[in-house]
Amino acid sequence: MCGIVGYIGNKSLDSVLLVGLKKLEYRGYDSAGIAILNNDEISIRKSKGKIISLEEKLDAKGFDGHAGIGHTRWATHGEPSTKNAHPHTNSTGSIAVVHNGIIENYVELKNMLSEKGYVFVSETDTETIPHLIDSEIQSGKDVKQAFYDAIQKLEGKFAIAMICEIEPDRIYFARNGAPLIAAFGKKSASESFLASDLPAIIPLAKEVTYLKDGDWGYIQAGTLEIYQGEKKYENIKIEPILIKEEEVNKGDYAHFMLKEIYEQPDIMQKIIDQRIDSNNRIFFNEMLFQNDYLSKIGRVIIQACGTSLNAGLIGKLYLENFCKLTTDADFSSEFRYRNPVIGGDTLVVGISQSGETADTLAGIHEAKAKFLKVLSFVNNNNSSIARESNAVIDLMAGPEIGVASTKAYTSEVLSLFLFSIYMSAIRWVLPKEEKKQLLDEIKSLPSQIASILKNLEPIQEISNYLKDVSSALFLGRTYNYASALEGALKLKEISYIHASGYAGGEFKHGPIALISEEVPSIVIVPQGEIRKKTISNLLEVRARKGKIISIITKGDDEVKDISDFFVEIPELSEPLSPLLTAIPMQLIAYFTAVYRGCDVDKPRNLAKSVTVE
Ligand code: F6R
Repeated sequence: MCGIVGYIGNKSLDSVLLVGLKKLEYRGYDSAGIAILNNDEISIRKSKGKIISLEEKLDAKGFDGHAGIGHTRWATHGEPSTKNAHPHTNSTGSIAVVHNGIIENYVELKNMLSEKGYVFVSETDTETIPHLIDSEIQSGKDVKQAFYDAIQKLEGKFAIAMICEIEPDRIYFARNGAPLIAAFGKKSASESFLASDLPAIIPLAKEVTYLKDGDWGYIQAGTLEIYQGEKKYENIKIEPILIKEEEVNKGDYAHFMLKEIYEQPDIMQKIIDQRIDSNNRIFFNEMLFQNDYLSKIGRVIIQACGTSLNAGLIGKLYLENFCKLTTDADFSSEFRYRNPVIGGDTLVVGISQSGETADTLAGIHEAKAKFLKVLSFVNNNNSSIARESNAVIDLMAGPEIGVASTKAYTSEVLSLFLFSIYMSAIRWVLPKEEKKQLLDEIKSLPSQIASILKNLEPIQEISNYLKDVSSALFLGRTYNYASALEGALKLKEISYIHASGYAGGEFKHGPIALISEEVPSIVIVPQGEIRKKTISNLLEVRARKGKIISIITKGDDEVKDISDFFVEIPELSEPLSPLLTAIPMQLIAYFTAVYRGCDVDKPRNLAKSVTVE
């Protein structure tokens, strides 16, 4: 949700910043801008729309310098426009600021500054920051003190980078509740970076320091100073950057989403290899909770958002069925504000690909305020959610850049499955034979996913049909109820076709009224206990002339015969089947969006990492 990049060094500044912004575009893409310092003078270029429109405004001549900051925006205050695009400046243009987050007290600050004569030109909360810093400088402070005193007056969440003509060799920064990293290139390069996320500065940056909330300071070429409050860090933890360039590039794929869908067999294999040994023992070495604590948990509340919550709904069934643990799964934004009654033996589980989702983070704060322990499943171990949880499980999916989550979802489901089997062993619940059968089965998951990915023809045929509909329904039961929600979410978010997921049994209690020849149903019918009941739902649709697209186990001729279209998946027991049913639904959403000419990796109005509540 907004991306920030900063660079100070010898490389061509507009290209470093531009490349960085393109890599951060998944965080927001309604407008963008760059400010650079050249000969102690700040120049700015901004544009409405995606980075490509900004690129057109960057004439190679005359727009370069030695330090600069860039921003790609997801609008919160003020419509997407060039005027509201960052960087924002003070009235003389000598201070430029980029910001990710929300300044909650901006109205009071704006009133206070307006009374002092400051004139605002945008509708953003961000514009208060350069004016505020300016007013601190006008009161006689040096830039460092003025920056610190100004950020003390800000309420809300922010990651900020600032350049200033009076101190042209520094880029100031501050982090409070929004992600920000500082990094360095090769030792010889004498250069420093700031970014919202690592992909922006790979492959140039070689070492990184992950800033914490409350950190502020400045980077200079090849060095930095960090403060927490007034205290300077004596030892800054600097780590090598281990992510490889190919992990953050599309390679030969048309979109990140497609690349990430195709990465799933390898990721599932990696998780299986790292978590299960040859004796079917499960390991979560990074997870700090001891067995003694885990054996005493009385209840689990999973809280997450969007796709991560859909994975959580499946996790709830795993924990209930395999561990006999009372488990709820809730939207973080509801959990946070509905003041639930929770006993002290409750474990709160957060699930988040980005590890930065503001709602999920707020849910964690709520849990901790109630003195509850928090376990989080995250795809970024240096994220805010990872840091603020008592224990963390690494999703191991690698950077996910497509805005629609795919590989992180299956990593979440698989990790939740393995965690529940791990817990069931500690709590002596699951019979040995059942555990063995499930773990033996899960080992075939990577090759089964790969086999689905090889047979695109039926999927493309379905997408070709779906591209012309305006509404679609997804039905599933028990473990695949969440799959139906996830299938609907994928389709609507990238193709803009209205789609809703329903529990198959609930369908006849209202949603069935939507069925017509124009409104197809995508019905998830794997083998298992609920197959017969789901077939009844399918027949209910058929009787009302609704088109049926079914996701079936290979060779299920009965369902094939009553479907207009079908996709076959290999056989896997019902609890594990969501790991397979997800794949055709991801691909159906992908191809439907492509056939409709939608920007798959950057769907309208969305951003990858939602850092506002
Ligand atoms: C949908 C999607 C979102 C996210 C949600 C939570 O494809 O990606 O629904 O799942 O915003 O994000 P994380 O998992 O980063 O907390």
